[in-house]
Amino acid sequence: MHTKPIVVIGSINMDLVARTPRIPLAGQTLTGTDFSTTPGGKGANQAVAAARLGPHVQMIGAVGNDVFGEALHSNLANAAVDTRAVAHVPGPSGVAQIQVADNGQNSIVVVPGANGAVTPELIRQHTKLIQSAGIVLLQLEIPLDTVLTACELCATAQVPVILDPAPAASLPDAIWPQLAWFTPNETELGLYTGSGFPPETAAKQLLARGVHGVALKRGAEGVYVAASGEEPTWVPAFHVEAIDTVGAGDCFNGAFAVSLLEGSSSAAAARFASAAAAISVTRNGAQAAMPTREEVDAFLASHG
Ligand code: RIB
Repeated sequence: MHTKPIVVIGSINMDLVARTPRIPLAGQTLTGTDFSTTPGGKGANQAVAAARLGPHVQMIGAVGNDVFGEALHSNLANAAVDTRAVAHVPGPSGVAQIQVADNGQNSIVVVPGANGAVTPELIRQHTKLIQSAGIVLLQLEIPLDTVLTACELCATAQVPVILDPAPAASLPDAIWPQLAWFTPNETELGLYTGSGFPPETAAKQLLARGVHGVALKRGAEGVYVAASGEEPTWVPAFHVEAIDTVGAGDCFNGAFAVSLLEGSSSAAAARFASAAAAISVTRNGAQAAMPTREEVDAFLASHG
């Protein structure tokens, strides 16, 4: 039984989601079919995904003092995420304007708001918490300096880091050896290795930079998992009827962390995480769609 927490350092957003027949072109006005205001943010989504699956999860982030701040905070707390390290700062909370098209495609504009207050200084205030973590989850919706500071702290304390490079941004060379796992989707991978390479080649490039392992998320193709000292493997995707893919990558990362922390092999962790993500895309919303442990276990049992 593991006792160390998963610590998520990242964004907390309110998602303003419009359902539309298709993603509008520039200059085009479309009539949507539905609108919802629902908690999101890549960091908070990963925290909720992990917490629903059992372990103790601590979130380090920030919300604003606007109407969304309190709702975002209590939503995390209601999902059993420990919010003692979530700061309340003056100004607006992070928001994401999202369009979800009938074919499942989405487009997202994020306005960081309070997420900009997740500074290196805030991270240093939580050094002890970070040092106590079993795994730290990071994404790129908070300032890059903060991500780099967190990675350095984790490297010194030998705490494994899973970095989800979303939204993709250039990273310094020094970061690679500090990462236990790097988990880009296909578009993000293109920025780091050049587009058009097969995942096998891209994985080799990334491992050669010093990252311990990569889980390359390839949608319907599955996940390509490669790590130093392990046989690389493809973990096939589960085929389900997707109605909303927002937050599916976050669900994968949260579940991947839980399974790794429980001692699973990387391939088994990727399979567990793929199952969780497959369930999440059959439901609306980001955090609202994250499955429970029982749901993932039942899904895996019924999918051989
Ligand atoms: O990954 C999905 C998330 O991206 C949404 O919840 C939105 O807030 C944006 O951060």
